[in-house]
Amino acid sequence: MRPASDRDAWLAALGLVRWERRCAPVQGVAAPTQEVVPDRPSAAGKAALVDPGQLDWPALRACVADCTRCELHRDRTRTVFGVGNVTADWLIVGEAPGAEEDRRGEPFVGRAGQLLDAMLAAIGQSRETVFITNILKCRPPNNRDPSTAEAAACRPYLERQIELLGPRLILAVGRIAAQQLLETAAPLARLRGQVHRHPRHDVPVVVTYHPAYLLRSPADKAQAWEDLLLACRTAAGVAA
Ligand code: URA
Repeated sequence: MRPASDRDAWLAALGLVRWERRCAPVQGVAAPTQEVVPDRPSAAGKAALVDPGQLDWPALRACVADCTRCELHRDRTRTVFGVGNVTADWLIVGEAPGAEEDRRGEPFVGRAGQLLDAMLAAIGQSRETVFITNILKCRPPNNRDPSTAEAAACRPYLERQIELLGPRLILAVGRIAAQQLLETAAPLARLRGQVHRHPRHDVPVVVTYHPAYLLRSPADKAQAWEDLLLACRTAAGVAA
């Protein structure tokens, strides 16, 4: 659980004075089993030959660390596999690592990450209770959007993460994550506000704004709060 001040700051930004739990705690979260080890290649060059669909968590992490499936491996500092609880009910999916994430090997560690932490705290979740990853495990240069080829090359890793985790809910943060997860070109405005099903895994998917967007457009935090409440209801099984 994050410090109360995170939650308060987020809710203050929404104009809410005091937090009250709006959804039941998610059932079935076991004792945190952290996946926070920085990613380092194990046996270079092997990843391209391996089928990620057969791997367990440690092998999948090693496979991602070795990955050369697309050109992004050439300029990365670290792969960014994901962080959190490998028995979590919630999977949070962003777009791709930025510069700071590339340096540290952990998703959402910049200002957008602090806001994501505050959003999670507002619903009683944290980096320790959810699992956070991205569509791409390597940083695209100059924060450009992932190319179709990069997203396709990286897809098996996220697919296997979803299989291994078996989440009750996927929260897609931002347009790229939503479009890639749902295999659609629909705009974010059309994707928010409803519960989708992941096309391959039949897991509920709720879409919200990317925290980097919310930093630029704080007026939309109120809508993001509605998205989080929909996600809570969905994970609790009352809005699928
Ligand atoms: N933005 C993302 O979508 N993912 C990160 O890990 C960091 C910023």
